[in-house]
Amino acid sequence: MKKTKELRNLIESEKLGFIMEAHNGLSAKIVEEAGFKGIWASGLSISAAMGVRDNNEASWTQVLDVLEFMSDATSIPILLDGDTGYGNFNNARRLVKKLEQRDIAGVCIEDKQFPKMNSFISGQLQPMADIEEFCGKIKAMKDTQTDDDFMVVARVEAFITGRGLGEALRRAEAYRKAGADAVLIHSKRPDIMEIEAFMKEWAGRLPVVIVPTKYYLTPTAKFRELGISLVIWANHNLRSSIKVMEQVSRKIYQDESLVHIEKDIASIEEVFRLQGAEELKAAEQKYLPASSPGSNGEM
Ligand code: SPV
Ligand code: MG
Repeated sequence: MKKTKELRNLIESEKLGFIMEAHNGLSAKIVEEAGFKGIWASGLSISAAMGVRDNNEASWTQVLDVLEFMSDATSIPILLDGDTGYGNFNNARRLVKKLEQRDIAGVCIEDKQFPKMNSFISGQLQPMADIEEFCGKIKAMKDTQTDDDFMVVARVEAFITGRGLGEALRRAEAYRKAGADAVLIHSKRPDIMEIEAFMKEWAGRLPVVIVPTKYYLTPTAKFRELGISLVIWANHNLRSSIKVMEQVSRKIYQDESLVHIEKDIASIEEVFRLQGAEELKAAEQKYLPASSPGSNGEM
């Protein structure tokens, strides 16, 4: 099945779906092997992995290059965190064209202004996009896609910027009418209150996607009860790798030795496996003359 159709099914099915963050080819592969049916290409994680801020400091083509590696390394659909679409409707529709060429299944855009700022940084101060302008962007993206199943998810930042339920609903309804395939309603509260209030009024007009980074204590059963369609675990591969890399680097620096860390880290063989070394070995047998050395020097 096409990746676009798989993502559409995941979001539109009655069952609650889950996708997990990745930020490069390796983490994308790990997400797929864990069993997830989709990948969140997180703006926060991709920028952090590049060593820059989540403020559009990385150019959109640099993000595209990362996506290409993620897409090539996996067979499950990728939903890109497309920030604000990297400009106006024109930049956003060109993004869609380039994403389709790389077999990316969908993109989520948020109703803020370029350059964006992460939702958990000084949220109240963040200006939002003009509703009409944002609707034009959604329309331009939907008109540009050549595959009907490509997903455009509209992310509502009204709660994040302190504007409340009325504004969240008004915006979500406008984005639905503009052609969005789903709505992502974001909240930075430590509880489910805002999301719950939204879900009751929204009443299933379009599938709803959530990112429970800050309200992680809410039981998943509650998401099902509210009729949420898709949960994004948005940054947990990045955060776990930061913690382990910090520990391992410090330990090796202090010990001036590898003795105490070898057992706690992935083996070199595991790295080769994740890179697909076996496939190359098999291909060499098929395509290289019997007399030439393979990639591992074997004759
Ligand atoms: C991201 O993963 O970059 C997101 C989700 O946009 S959040 O960081 O929660 O805003
Ligand atoms: Mg983001």
